[in-house]
Amino acid sequence: MDSSDSVTLVLRWAHILAAVVALGGLAFARFGVVPALAELDASTRDRIHDAIRRRWLPWVIGAITLLLVSGLANFLLFNGRVKANPTFWGATWMQDAHYHILFGVKFLIAMVVFYFASALVGRGTGTQWVRNDRAKWLSVTLALGVVVVLMSGWMRQLHTGPNSPPAAAAGNRVD
Ligand code: HEM
Repeated sequence: MDSSDSVTLVLRWAHILAAVVALGGLAFARFGVVPALAELDASTRDRIHDAIRRRWLPWVIGAITLLLVSGLANFLLFNGRVKANPTFWGATWMQDAHYHILFGVKFLIAMVVFYFASALVGRGTGTQWVRNDRAKWLSVTLALGVVVVLMSGWMRQLHTGPNSPPAAAAGNRVD
């Protein structure tokens, strides 16, 4: 492994771990915390939400920062590889445009996810409308986060290619 491989690996670890923390937190809040707290009276519920909010906020800020930094670095590193490796449609410009369109759409959706993830743990009056209907906006944010993960896998496949066995191994198969 050369030093550029190590950098790519560290960036990948950081990006994946931050995505796991961010989306895992949203799923736990939507399907664990919100339904459990719905059984309590309003003032107890608000106190628990506030206690969770204060503790979870640094994790959300940390995950967003890591996703942005490692994501932009990934983009700069992988962009060249996509150009050099027209695996799918033969034409390099098409491969390139495909990757850039996916990246652009993914980036915009990720910004919406960041907005809602921050609003859900914020306390500003401007974002109170999000917390007034927590279950709904948690579902929307989680669904958008899943779309981002699916798009990321697709982007990756554009420069790594599909997981098909090498020709020699395929030739040894007994069907
Ligand atoms: C909700 C936020 C995000 C989630 C859940 C997410 C998730 C992921 C996942 C699961 C991967 C695949 C990692 C791998 O297989 O190695 C990935 C790759 C990537 N992400 Fe993100 N990401 C998010 C935000 C961002 C942002 C904000 C950027 C850019 C600033 C970004 C740029 C990238 C790039 C360039 C790749 C590499 C794709 C490739 O292999 O060509 N991501 N992301």
